[in-house]
Amino acid sequence: MTRTLIICTSVSHGNTRRVAEAMAEVLGAKVVEPDQVELAELGDYDLIGFGSGIFNRRFHPDLLRFVSALPGAHGSAFVFATSGLPGVRFEPLLRALQDKGFKTAGTFSCRAFDTWAPFKPVGGIRKGRPDRSDLQAARQFAEGLRGR
Ligand SMILES: Cc1cc2nc3c(=O)[nH]c(=O)nc-3n(C[C@H](O)[C@H](O)[C@H](O)COP(=O)(O)O)c2cc1C
Repeated sequence: MTRTLIICTSVSHGNTRRVAEAMAEVLGAKVVEPDQVELAELGDYDLIGFGSGIFNRRFHPDLLRFVSALPGAHGSAFVFATSGLPGVRFEPLLRALQDKGFKTAGTFSCRAFDTWAPFKPVGGIRKGRPDRSDLQAARQFAEGLRGR
């Protein structure tokens, strides 16, 4: 069985955490924050997921810092994000993970409640998301990873 860990930074509304938990159910995975990870244990996992919200077009700095401090790896990684706007730029994080030796297993993103400054005056955008169908899409993505 594939042993999976999901590392998730979700600081704004808990949006990405909800997506991570949906994936974790399917994968039988634990969801942790970067500062809860024991680096020595990472070798126990075949597949590691990395996710956060998008802030100023980037993954959260805590997650990026964590990845750049990782030792070399041998397993596979998937990357996921929640964001107000479409067009998530996965490449910089994927490249950083590949540089550490991870194979890319897949990427996932969905829209989510966003109270970034430009949208604050209107009470934010994408209220109520991730919704049931977003979480269903996250589960389906995870099924695909499980069946790799
Ligand atoms: C300061 C700030 C900057 C943001 N920048 C972006 C952005 O560049 N692009 C985007 O699509 N969403 C942006 N968002 C929206 C977040 O990505 C979105 O709310 C995300 O779901 C937050 O995830 P979390 O609740 O897991 O932390 C921003 C939100 C905040 C508060």
